[in-house]
Amino acid sequence: MSDNQASLTADGKSIEMPVRSGTIGPDVIDIRKLYGQTGLFTYDPGFTSTASCDSAITYIDGEEGVLLHRGYPIGQLAEHSTFMEVSYLLLNGELPSPAQLDTFSHTITRHTMVHEQLSSFFSGFRRDAHPMAIMCGVVGALSAFYHDSTDVADPEHRKISSHRLIAKIPTIAAMAYKYSVGQPFVYPRNDLSYTGNFLRMTFGVPAEEYEVVPAVERAMDRIFILHADHEQNASTSTVRLAGSSGANPFACIAAGIACLWGPAHGGANEAALNMLKEIGTPDKIPEYIARAKDKNDPFRLMGFGHRVYKNYDPRATVMQKTVREVFDALKVSDPLFETALRLEEIALNDPYFVEKKLFPNVDFYSGIILSAIGFPTTMFTVLFALARTVGWVAQWNEMISDPGQKIGRPRQLYTGPAARDYTPLDQR
Ligand code: ACO
Repeated sequence: MSDNQASLTADGKSIEMPVRSGTIGPDVIDIRKLYGQTGLFTYDPGFTSTASCDSAITYIDGEEGVLLHRGYPIGQLAEHSTFMEVSYLLLNGELPSPAQLDTFSHTITRHTMVHEQLSSFFSGFRRDAHPMAIMCGVVGALSAFYHDSTDVADPEHRKISSHRLIAKIPTIAAMAYKYSVGQPFVYPRNDLSYTGNFLRMTFGVPAEEYEVVPAVERAMDRIFILHADHEQNASTSTVRLAGSSGANPFACIAAGIACLWGPAHGGANEAALNMLKEIGTPDKIPEYIARAKDKNDPFRLMGFGHRVYKNYDPRATVMQKTVREVFDALKVSDPLFETALRLEEIALNDPYFVEKKLFPNVDFYSGIILSAIGFPTTMFTVLFALARTVGWVAQWNEMISDPGQKIGRPRQLYTGPAARDYTPLDQR
């Protein structure tokens, strides 16, 4: 590689490719002309070395454990900001002025109700359906209700659908919960904060007034901030890929929710708490550490390891601190927290985890907090989806606004049979 050019020699052909630099982070080799000039594709399953887009939203330095949204460190945002402010930042690129934040929050709270007919969708699901299954279905169904904001080429439509998605997701998430416990849906209230309103819609009942506990509201809001965006992860890439065909935003976000559900991604918080429950007491930890290291055992330490972070996930640091705050506010404790702390300590001193640079990720402690607040484990990934919707929407908007945007269409290395003639059924 030399002076902003990379050269590649393969099959006797040599080509020069431009090297592009971002603001920070690794440079990229622009291989777009590779196939045209050499007839070769690159091969990178899982995109471990491939940048799929330009993006100015979120930056991660996995080696250093840094996460920036529009340049602002996640620790500062979690400490001083609110989810509404971070949402504005992700969508618009700058922190809002007080007036801008007020207008934005007002707009979001005025879109929190869902079409009344959407409520009838829920009764089509079994009561024991996983709420993520309900989320995929109901969020996708929004496109059947809000036809007036699905022209993706129109910036105003994109803005309205973005606001609708951010505003309605908490209502739908709370409805999914209410349906599973057989309680009536609770309508949103505009005088509450985004997060306070969500807590009330989830835990409130018509029989009595629901009091939002400020410390819990703050902790929940912080959890939303910590999950708001994470650059080109699997679900965000799914949203971008779905959106690249011009699909409507509600359908794209439903695709993101489906991808997030997987245990290697958003489903890990549910899996992490289930794992801690299975381990139970600290004396059982060595047995599970041994299983995690055994190549013949599929067991992995859930909430540990990350494709990008090869250092402590900065979100896990904030999450660990938040556990104590919630315990103090609710005057509760959970022996699983002690087990988690001890598990972290043991793993971080074990050569296997040290060599592979496996550290706790955001999901390791979040389940303990959510469980203390009162959420069942099946709701954990729903909360992640709720918070990540703003990131998905911001990334989707960025992609559609990019004049160079193309439909996403990866290539492959074909390993099936070469062309052959059809054999009639009676000759097989
Ligand atoms: N426990 C034990 N070993 C692990 C773990 C783990 N949690 N994570 C990775 N490893 C090992 C792998 O076995 C592999 O070992 P090898 O090189 O000897 O084959 C090595 O570390 C690298 O792991 P990969 O799976 O190749 O790394 P990748 O970047 O593809 O995976 C992932 C990252 C999926 C997050 C992985 O670490 C994992 O499965 N963790 C548990 C699930 C989890 O917590 N997911 C949440 C991610 S954060 C989020 O989505 C919000």
